[in-house]
Amino acid sequence: MLVNNQIFGAPLAGITDKPFRRIVRMFAPDAPLYTEMISCHSLVEAHKNCLRNFDRYDDEGNIGAQIFGADVSLMADAARILQDSGATWIDINMGCPVPKVATRSGAGAHLMKDHILAEKIMRAVVKAVKIPVSIKTRLGWDEASRDWAELIHIATDCGISFAALHGRTRAQLYMGESKLPRITDDIKMPIIGNGDIKDIKDVTKVLNLGYSGAMIGRAMLGRPWTLGVLSGKCDVPHQIGPIVLRHFEYMLGYYGEKNATQMFRKHAAWYSAGIPNSAEFRIKVNKIFSAKELKTEICKFWGCEENI
Ligand SMILES: Cc1cc2nc3c(=O)[nH]c(=O)nc-3n(C[C@H](O)[C@H](O)[C@H](O)COP(=O)(O)O)c2cc1C
Repeated sequence: MLVNNQIFGAPLAGITDKPFRRIVRMFAPDAPLYTEMISCHSLVEAHKNCLRNFDRYDDEGNIGAQIFGADVSLMADAARILQDSGATWIDINMGCPVPKVATRSGAGAHLMKDHILAEKIMRAVVKAVKIPVSIKTRLGWDEASRDWAELIHIATDCGISFAALHGRTRAQLYMGESKLPRITDDIKMPIIGNGDIKDIKDVTKVLNLGYSGAMIGRAMLGRPWTLGVLSGKCDVPHQIGPIVLRHFEYMLGYYGEKNATQMFRKHAAWYSAGIPNSAEFRIKVNKIFSAKELKTEICKFWGCEENI
């Protein structure tokens, strides 16, 4: 599952859903991709309003299902459910900085401060499943506690297979530059470098620092071909319209017309960014509630046919 120098698609809440992953796989069929983060509570309690709680993964390629939470036994249960749903591996979120997760729930980035709880969760999840378990974390809670290496040593001891490291602290959120440290010989598990990686130069830089792979997040927005291009599987496509239409079709199939039409607005904005008249296009799209109208606007903007 983890081959050296692989390019991973990062977990992005509200973005890397099943339709988005399907579009990414058109260009990078074998790329290791993550789900959005999934709450162990909402999964175990099978919250009906959350479609992804019922996703199957066996029809996808290499897929890491990411869970977050602070309850040791619910995290183990959630991992088991996702294994049974066909995930390739389970990832534990140890980096999410948003207050609802990291401070109010004691999950995500909080686990970088509470290594005892982090260790309990890792041991329970590894024991609960037969598939590999990874973690995704940051450099530390803040500048004064950049203790990622200590967490990695604990993870190694718990049987975690690999880790992704985002080169910022929790305090930095997404601000400032991502600065990944060099991987030294005392680190005994593969580490995937993450943060601000956009092109092949950035990937090479990360690999030269001793990382086993690179993980791309925001550089996929409006450019789902990025992983394919960076892993040498495709060129940047010339015709964007048919890709946008197909992505919207997949969202319609998954979410239904009402939700898909509104949820697609952000994707339409990312796809159109930097193209002449994109501001007018976005204003129009933000007022559309019907799938047919949205398809017509997409075709007009990119000059393509509706039949894809
Ligand atoms: C909108 C958004 C949603 C994110 N959702 C998640 C998530 O669900 N789980 C997670 O571990 N990280 C999440 N992240 C962090 C990214 O996976 C990644 O670590 C971060 O964006 C830095 O990488 P990049 O510069 O390539 O985007 C999110 C980031 C953004 C911007």
